Parts: sequence; C-alpha cells; structure tokens
Amino acid sequence: MGLQLSILKIYFLKLKMYSLPENKRRKFMTKRYDLFNNIIGKEFLHGGDYNPDQWLEYPEIIKEDVRLMKLAHINCAAINIFGWSAIEPEEGKYEFEWLDNIMDDLYKAGVNIILATPSGARPAWMSEKYPEVLRVNADRTKNLHGQRHNHCYTSPVYRQKTSELNRKLAERYKNHPGLILWHISNELGGDCHCELCQERFRNWLKEKYHNNLDELNSAWWTGFWSHKFNSWSQIESPSPLGEMQVHGHNLDWRRFVSDMHIDFYKSEIAPIREITPNIPVTTNFMGDYPRMGLFGGINYGDFAKEVDIVSWDEYPAWHNNWETTEELASNVGFVHDVYRSLKGGQPFLIMESTPSLVNWHKINKGKRPGMHLLSSLQGVAHGADSVQYFQWRKGRGSSEKFHGAVVDHCGHENTRVFREVTEVGESLKKINEVCGTSVDAEVAIIFDWENRWAIDDCQALNNENKGYIESCEEYYRVFWRKGIPVDVITMDADFSKYKLVIAPMLYMVKPGVAERINDFVRNGGNFVTTYFSGIVNENDLCFLGGFPGPLREVTGIWEEEIDTLYDTDVNYIEYEGKEYKVKDYCDVIHAENAEVLARYTTDYYKGMPALTRNRYGNGNAYYVAARTFNDFDTKFFGSIIDELELRRAINIELPLGVNAELREDEENKYIFLMNFSEEEKSVNLDKEYLDLLSGSKVRGEVKLDKYKVMVLKTNV
Ligand code: GLA
Ligand code: ZN
Repeated sequence: MGLQLSILKIYFLKLKMYSLPENKRRKFMTKRYDLFNNIIGKEFLHGGDYNPDQWLEYPEIIKEDVRLMKLAHINCAAINIFGWSAIEPEEGKYEFEWLDNIMDDLYKAGVNIILATPSGARPAWMSEKYPEVLRVNADRTKNLHGQRHNHCYTSPVYRQKTSELNRKLAERYKNHPGLILWHISNELGGDCHCELCQERFRNWLKEKYHNNLDELNSAWWTGFWSHKFNSWSQIESPSPLGEMQVHGHNLDWRRFVSDMHIDFYKSEIAPIREITPNIPVTTNFMGDYPRMGLFGGINYGDFAKEVDIVSWDEYPAWHNNWETTEELASNVGFVHDVYRSLKGGQPFLIMESTPSLVNWHKINKGKRPGMHLLSSLQGVAHGADSVQYFQWRKGRGSSEKFHGAVVDHCGHENTRVFREVTEVGESLKKINEVCGTSVDAEVAIIFDWENRWAIDDCQALNNENKGYIESCEEYYRVFWRKGIPVDVITMDADFSKYKLVIAPMLYMVKPGVAERINDFVRNGGNFVTTYFSGIVNENDLCFLGGFPGPLREVTGIWEEEIDTLYDTDVNYIEYEGKEYKVKDYCDVIHAENAEVLARYTTDYYKGMPALTRNRYGNGNAYYVAARTFNDFDTKFFGSIIDELELRRAINIELPLGVNAELREDEENKYIFLMNFSEEEKSVNLDKEYLDLLSGSKVRGEVKLDKYKVMVLKTNV
C-alpha cells in the first residue's frame, strides 16, 4: 500500500512538473545532494577546530575532551590544522602516533574526522633550511620565520614538502573509518613577491598575452606615463616602491595571485585525490572585518570549482554599535547566500564560527544568551549543513588563548557557553531532516570578485569607499526582509533560471556577459542595473562610444556623467508622485529607448531621468541612476516582486527584525523564522505547521521572543 502510494505521489509530482511553465518547475527538481559517501549532507555536522597538538603534554585533558564532546553532541572535529611540527618535528622524521590515537579515540566516541593538511603554518626547521619558502612583501622585504600564511605558494620546495606530507597523511588514514573530509590548509590568502613569483607572474602573462608584448601593452594602456615595456623581464609585480597606477597590471596581478592559490591548492590535493578519491575535499573560505563583507584576495567564484563542498569561516560582530542586529543579520545572510550560490545552490559548511566571542575584533563582545543558537541556525537556514567552531578548547598560551571556545580555561561543562553549544547540538538533531535540502531562489544578485577588484582600484567617485559591497547588501536587504530567497552569483553564472537578476555597479562587463544579459531579458527575464555599470572591459579599459557600453542596448539609455555627493549634499528623485532622497552617486543619463519612471528634482540635472525601464524582447531592463535609500529600494523592488509574484519562504507579512528562510526538497518545506531583534515579535501564520524544535504544532498568532528561532515544517 505504502509503495503504491509513493508511486502515485511520484507520478503526481511528475505531472505537476510537466504541466507547469518552465520557471515554476524548478522547485520540484531540487534533489538532496548525495555526493559524499559519508554523513555530510545526511547528518548535520556539529564540531570544530580541535588542537590536541597543543595539549600533548596533558593527556588527561585530551581524554576529558572526548567526554565533553559527547556531552555537547559534537559529531566532528577538524584536526591537524596547525599540526605540522607535531607530525614532522624534524625533516623526514614523522610522529603520527598521537594523531592515530586521537583519531581512533574520537571515532570511538562518535566524532568524525575532518583532517587538515597543515600547510597554513610550517615548522621552523623548514624556513631555516629552505629560506625560499618565506614570503616576500610588496615592498620586497623578506619575512622572517613565524606567523602563518607566510609561505611562498610558488616555491617548488614548499610545494614538494606539502605534497610529500599530504601523501603520507592520505596513505596512513585512507582507510580510517572516521575520516569524512579533507580540510586543505587554512584560509589561504595573501601574496608573495619573491623572485620565483616574479618569474611565474611573467610566465603567466606570456601565456595570457600569447607571448606578445604588444598585446600586453595595449591591454595595460602602457602609453600612460611612458610605461611601455619592450622586454618581459622589465615586468615586476605591483609595488609601493614601483608601479601601482596601471590598472590592467594590478588586475592581472590579482588574477595571478588568485590563480596561484588555486594552483597551490591543486598541488596539495593531487596525492589526496589519488589515494582517497572518495573522500571529499574543501578549504575554508573566509569573511572580512569590520564589514561583514567577503575576503577579497581570491576569486572564490573560480576556487569553488575546485572544491567538493564550499566551506567558510563566519565571524560577525554581533551586538556591535554601528548597525542593528537586524541589519547585521541581513549582511550575514548575504554572505551565506554567496557561499551557497558558488556551487549552484549545493549546501555548504560553516567551518568555523565562535560559540561566544573572538579575540581579533576591535571590541571583542560576546554573543548574548540566545544569539548562539540563532546565529548558528541562520547559517543552516541559508543552506549550511554544519555548525562548527573555532575553537573547541581555549589554549593556555599565545594569541588565541582568549578567543572564544566551547571549553574554557575552567575546563568543565558548567558554563553558559557550553550549555548554549549543547543546545545547538540538540537542536541540530531535532531538525536533522533538513540536512541536505536545498534553497531555491528566483532572484539573483550579481556580486563578482573581478568587478570588485576593478572598482576598488579605480580612482574616482568616493575614493575612501566606493560602496560596491554595500550596494549589493542594501538591495539584498529588501528581499531578506520579505523572506524572499536570493542567490548571489558571479557574472559568469547562468542567469536563465532566474526571474530577476540584479547587477548593482556592474562596472566591469567581461566578454559575453552583456550578450547573456540580453538573451536573458529577451527571453522574458527582468534585469536591474545601476549607476557605474558598463564602464570597463575585462582589462579595465573604458568602453568607448558611451556608457553603459555593452549594456546600452538592453537598458536603452546612455550615461553622460556621474556626480559624486558629499555626505552633506542632498538630492531627491521623484517616483510615483513621491520624493525619495538619494546619496553618494547620481548618474546623469539620457533615455534612448527606455521609458522614464523617476526624475531628479534638484541640481543641474533636475528633471533628468533617475530610473528607467526598457522593454526589451519579452523582458524588462531597469536602470537605477542614483544610489537610493531603503525606502525607495523597498518601493521599487516591491512592485517588481509583486509583478513577478516572487516566491517567499512564507506567505505572511514579516515584522521588521523577523527574517524567514526556506529550505526544501520534493516533499517538504522547512521555514526558518528568526527574530533578529531585541524585542518580542509576533507573526500570524497562514496555516498549521510542525515546529521541529518544540515538537508541537503551531498555527495562528505565534510570539517570537528576542533572538528566538523556529523551524516550521510543512508538506509541499
Ligand atoms: C580564522 C582561522 C582560525 C582562527 C580564527 C580565529 O578563521 O582560520 O585558525 O585563527 O580565525 O577567529
Ligand atoms: Zn614567492
């Protein structure tokens, strides 16, 4: 009977799929991803960075760790991240026994292993014997041994040493039943300007420019300040002592540095792929501070293609004094969505977060009671299949001894933080059926690393902060507040699956992108772009013949100049009979084919278009000429949201501070309702749901206390 019913159900689902228009079909196609032959994607990971290598002289503490992990419902630990000097204390002399014992003991206690390759920091003997592994700064000073992330990623010696050690690790643990994931190095980043890197950079350029120096000279616009090269050997990496004003040069250097990290990572994983082809591989991407931005040093859009699962380290400054909890939460949501979208919506991992506080913000304020569960489940709501911490236990010495940890120096479980971590462990078990489900968005915001590099580098607008990430975050917030799922994609991504694609400040338009935007709109898509878009090509050379360059056709406007405002300047636009204040930038544009929806009300461009819509093929392309505030953004996108009937996590009005996110599969929807405010909020549910955390059914009006989170289940 059961079987017959499910066959019927599948048949019915299929019927639904094939009878719906293309853009409505997708949600039934979301599949639980089943890439890995272990618990990832099936059981939420709850664990974190564990550094027993710092505690080898304290065997009783290591034993106690296992007991405490069980208590806190920990099911995974990332180990050996900085273990190099413990496993290879002298060149070629290996000591793996401690690692063997720890891996066995953890596994016996139900704790799975995320095994790191320890290349993020190296033993002193290596720097002493092979100084080429040491990094050289942009000012050409060579670093001494120390710190971490202080290696030359081009150095053949460093590559050989990491690859030898990784081979040994893979050989030794290939059959370990606890091993579920490789954690390659740690937060790769930074650059090296040593001679080896200079040579590699020149070779990279020769390949890119087909061994043709004229091609490079044109792409870099080297007629400027008499910068023409007539030999490859004249080219150096950008330096404050030398050249930093040639934008094509800077951009290629950033691309090279990004490629080198990926190349180094590939050299690290070669032995691992060979020996453990069935164990997935990741490396932890990182955030940024003080803005809840994204690390800019590596093009994660490219890097994501090389990892099996994206993971990132999340350290927002909760309860800070420059933004509300709600605003910060929205910015964190944006970053989660970036990482989820990097692999086309496949769930990702939170590799690190703090259970309490960090030690490296300006003010290291702890999470208030309730925030730990809320912020942890926020990641899950956006598609994370883990909650992991830095760090399991506070060390006794060195700079991270006061960084938050599950286990404090007191050494026992009777602390608020330990109890809140335990609560997260329990909660993840209660909602485990959510693990592996997807987030399905009809809206995408383009956030692109290369575009960011080029915007940051240009000398124009507000040179202190062009506000690229902020402009993405501000638009994102409109959707976040309404509980509308959003993907955050690069300009290389496929646009066709979305109803709405928003490209704030798409300054750089790489070859083919405008054509894909045109196709998207022609086929019925809706596209929104803004001031400072369509300005340069992939070499950071301005388009000639009128901005927005290749976006001119689809937007139906041309841009004559851009005005940058001081904080104290005021201008307004009039839209649908109401005035809205604008800030920072005002483009002075002319409508060609587009219709004008809003106009400036003051200054010399009074009466000129500030918002346009161009009907192009079956779709629309909007151009927002000025940087607006949330009141306008809400109004403008609100009408597009209504017109396109964009899906929401839940079909109810959400009070300010309450966010809703949606994970789903073919059968169920899981709505995360989260109160990111300091007050109690109430919402009126549209129907009855099962609240997975409390186990009870809820309907009608529900109250959400400060920082409360609910996970509501319903059938599709
Ligand atoms: C990073 C690193 C960790 C640790 C934490 C502290 O994310 O990967 O090793 O230093 O920061 O917040
Ligand atoms: Zn180097």
